[in-house]
Amino acid sequence: MKKVILFICLFPLLTSVVHATSNGTNSYNIEVDLTDTKSLQRGARIFINYCLSCHSASYMRYNRLGKDLGISEQTLKENFMFGTDKSGETMKIAMKPSESKVFFGVSPPDLSVIARARGADWLYSYFLSFYSDPSRPFGVNNLQFKDTAMPHVLWELQGFQRPVYNTVTRGDGSSVKVIEGLETGSPGKLSPQEYEETVYDLVNFLVYLSEPVKLKREKIGIWVIIYLLVLLPVAYKLKKEYWRDVK
Ligand code: HEC
Repeated sequence: MKKVILFICLFPLLTSVVHATSNGTNSYNIEVDLTDTKSLQRGARIFINYCLSCHSASYMRYNRLGKDLGISEQTLKENFMFGTDKSGETMKIAMKPSESKVFFGVSPPDLSVIARARGADWLYSYFLSFYSDPSRPFGVNNLQFKDTAMPHVLWELQGFQRPVYNTVTRGDGSSVKVIEGLETGSPGKLSPQEYEETVYDLVNFLVYLSEPVKLKREKIGIWVIIYLLVLLPVAYKLKKEYWRDVK
């Protein structure tokens, strides 16, 4: 019993250690905020303008998006819906998987649940880790996702980063060049800080997209815990009352 209690106490510590050690070069940690509706709206706009041409989000309907993010039907139609005029439609794309496979070698995956598969930190790091690499088909590579087939679609905003190399001597005396970090090569429309904020909004939106009911569920969760805490002394008193005669 003691061991179980010890494990329960140490579990959060254990997971945070794993979390911290899994970060390699250029990996970031972020804290998403699904209550920040303005951030989610900006993220939705970026998603629709820069991602929806290749990736679908076929579990999400436009009218659900409007309702959750406080966007009026009119604004939704004017600024958020390009492929359709029916707000009950899901966020599909015109490109067929067979066509995109020809362009990119792989089909861009549906992004409905990508934040659950990859996690917010991974996604944030991915969009900050594109760098120029002339050996790749689209002239870019990525530290988070090596040899990704995806072009750097946000290059206009970020510009292009170039790798900073470091020479490392191995045990057998030979030396290899490894990427130590990234630095601005050619700047984009946004400053590095503005770009980070934009990527934050995008990732915030992708997290919302993966689980639109999360916010509601967390709110319910707090009430359930309060309810249980209130119930605890009552249950304890009751237990004592029952056992008094038995003992
Ligand atoms: C020009 C087409 C294109 C656009 C536009 C595009 N992507 Fe991609 N994306 C791809 C392709 C192709 C892949 C597959 C990469 C691979 O598997 O090597 C991909 C992969 C990804 C992945 C990794 C999926 C995985 O394997 O886990 C994420 C995340 C992603 N895209 C997000 C986005 C977001 C967010 C945007 C908008 C900012 C975007 N993409 C815009 C083509 C595109």
